[in-house]
Amino acid sequence: MRLSWVSLAVFVGSVFAQSSVDSYIASQGPISKTGLLANIGGSGSKAAGAKPGVVIASPSKTDPPYFFTWTRDSSLVYKAVIDIFARGEDASLRTQIDDFITAEATLQQVSNPSGTVSSGGLGEPKFNVDFTAFTGAWGRPQRDGPALRATAIIAYANWLRANGNTTFVTNTLWPILKLDLDYVAQNWNQTGFDLWEEVNSSSFFTTAVQHRALREGSALATAIGQTSVVSNYNAQATNVLCFLQSYWNPSAGFITANTGGGRSGRDANTVLTSIHTFDPAAGCDAATFQPCSDKALSSLKVYVDAFRSIYTVNSGLAATAPVATGRYPEDSYQGGNPWYLTTIAVAEQLYDALIVWNAQGSLQVTSTSLAFFQQFSPTVAVGTYASTTATFTTLTSAVKTWADGFIAVHAKYTPSNGGLAEQYSRSNGNPLSAVDLTWSYAAALTAFAARDGKAGPSWGAAGLTVPATCSTAGTGSGGGSSGGPTVAVTFNNVATTTFGENIYITGSVPELQNWSPDNALILSAANYPTWSITVNLPANTRIEYKYIRKFNGAITWESDPNRVINTPASGTFTEGDQWR
Ligand SMILES: *[C@@H]1O[C@H](CO)[C@@H](O)[C@H](O)[C@H]1NC(C)=O
Ligand SMILES: *[C@@H]1O[C@H](CO)[C@@H](O)[C@H](O)[C@H]1NC(C)=O
Ligand SMILES: *[C@@H]1O[C@H](CO)[C@@H](O)[C@H](O)[C@H]1NC(C)=O
Repeated sequence: MRLSWVSLAVFVGSVFAQSSVDSYIASQGPISKTGLLANIGGSGSKAAGAKPGVVIASPSKTDPPYFFTWTRDSSLVYKAVIDIFARGEDASLRTQIDDFITAEATLQQVSNPSGTVSSGGLGEPKFNVDFTAFTGAWGRPQRDGPALRATAIIAYANWLRANGNTTFVTNTLWPILKLDLDYVAQNWNQTGFDLWEEVNSSSFFTTAVQHRALREGSALATAIGQTSVVSNYNAQATNVLCFLQSYWNPSAGFITANTGGGRSGRDANTVLTSIHTFDPAAGCDAATFQPCSDKALSSLKVYVDAFRSIYTVNSGLAATAPVATGRYPEDSYQGGNPWYLTTIAVAEQLYDALIVWNAQGSLQVTSTSLAFFQQFSPTVAVGTYASTTATFTTLTSAVKTWADGFIAVHAKYTPSNGGLAEQYSRSNGNPLSAVDLTWSYAAALTAFAARDGKAGPSWGAAGLTVPATCSTAGTGSGGGSSGGPTVAVTFNNVATTTFGENIYITGSVPELQNWSPDNALILSAANYPTWSITVNLPANTRIEYKYIRKFNGAITWESDPNRVINTPASGTFTEGDQWR
C-alpha cells in the first residue's frame, strides 16, 4: 500500500495521539483511584466526618456545597470499585465494599422528606454524611438511586456467589436488595427528578437503569431461591423495556433524555445510559440501547454535535473532531460548562462498542447509524462488514482514534496534579465548580478499563423481546388493576381510635395504592373497634400491606415489618388483624 502524504500525516498523528493518551492514562489512572478512595468515609483523607462507606460527592463544602452523599453518585462510584475488586485487581477494596453495604443498609432506613423505607423514602436523593436526613428543599424523589444501588450490590453478590459465600448474599445482601428492587417494581411508572436533579418527569437514564436492576435482580433471586419475587420483577422489567422504547426520536435520530423539561432532549443522560447498561453478551441490541447499537451511535453523534458551536474551547476544530462535551447544550448550572465525566463517557461508549465489534468479528452499518459512520468514511454504505474486510478495519481504527481523541480533550483540560473537578471552563478549559468530584474519578477509571477491553458483567440484556403494546400493570398510584383473576379479600383490623381519627390500608399492589399514604383506602368503622374493607386483589399473589392512621393531616404507620398475605387462587379470603 502506498500512503499519500495526507494519510501518512493522519497515520502519524494518530500514533502520536495514541501514545500520549497511553501516557495520560498511565498517570491519571492511579491518581483517579486515589482521588476516589479519598472521598469515602472511614479512611478517605478528604472525607473526615463521613461515616465508613459513605461516599461524599466532593470535599467542596461551599459553592457548591457537595459534602453530602447521593445514592446515585455513591452507587455508580461503588459499581466501579466492585468491578475492579471482582476482576481481581485489588483485593484490599473489600473492606470499603463491606462498609458501603453497611452504610447503604443504614441509609435505607432513615426517614426523610420522601418518606420512610416503606412509603417512598428510598427515592430520597441525598443524605447528610452522618446518616441523618437532608431536610432542605430539593428535587425529590429521584428514582434511579435504588436501581443503581441494587446494580452495585448485585455485582458484589455475584462475586460472593462465585466465591462460595452465598450465605452472606442470602442473609445480608438480599434483604437490602429486595427493598430497592421492590421500590423499582412498584414505582417505575411514576415521575421523578432526572439524574441532573432538574427535570421532574420520566427520564431515559432512570428508566433504563430500572430495567437493568429488575432483570439482574430477578436472575439473582432465582439463583438464591428467592422465587416469590421473580414473576413480578420479570413482568415489570418487560413493561419497563417497552416504555424505554418511547424515548427514541426516529426523525431526529437521537434518544430524548426526558419526557418533560422543555429542552432539545440532547443530553449526556443517554450516553451515560449506554455505558451503565452495557452488556457485552447483548451484542449491538437496540432495544436496550447497547453502546454499539445503531440508535445509541446515532444519538451519540447528535449529542456530541450539540456542543461544537456553543463552547469557545471547541471553536476552530474540524467538523468531526473530538470536542469538549457537557450535560446538555441548554445547561447554565455553575456557568453551564463541559464536564469531565460527560466528555470521557463519549470515549467509554465507543470503547464498549469496539469490545463487541471485535468479539463478534463484524460491524453493521444501518440507515440509522449511517451518519455516525460517515464521519469516518464519507462513502461507507449500509451493510454488515466482517472483521476480514477493509471497511471493518478502517471503521474500527477510526472509532478507536476518535475515542482516544475524547480522552485527549479530557487530558488537555486536566490540571497537572490530575485533580478532576466537576466542570472545566467553556471559554478557557480551566477546572470549575466542585473540586475532586468522586464521580469524575470513577468515570475516568471505567473509561480507561473499557479502553483496555474490560467489559462489565453481563446482566441479562441479550435476546429480550419488546411487547407490541406497553402495559403499566402492577404499578401506578392512581390505582387500576393487575389484569388477571381476582379474589375478594376482607381486611378486619381491630384498632382503638380517637374521634376524627381514621384507619386506612395501603400495600404493594395497585389495588392497595402501591404504598401511597395519600391514596390509601379508608376502612369502615361500622363495627368499631373493628375497621373493615373488602378489596378485589390479584389471585394467587403475595401481597404486602400495612395499616395507617390519619388524624388532623398527620399520618402514622404501623410498626414494621410489613404484613403479608398470600391470596388464594379463587373464592374469597378474610384477614383478621390488630393494629400494631
Ligand atoms: C462472606 O462475606 C462477608 C462479607 O465480606 C464476610 O464478612 C464473611 O466472613 C464471608 N464468609 C465467608 C464464609 O467467607
Ligand atoms: C407509564 O407507562 C406507560 C406505558 O409504557 C407510559 O405510556 C407512561 O408514559 C408511563 N408513565 C410514567 C410516568 O412512567
Ligand atoms: C413532580 O411531578 C409530579 C407529577 O406531575 C407532581 O405530582 C409533583 O408534585 C412534582 N414534584 C415537584 C417537587 O414539583
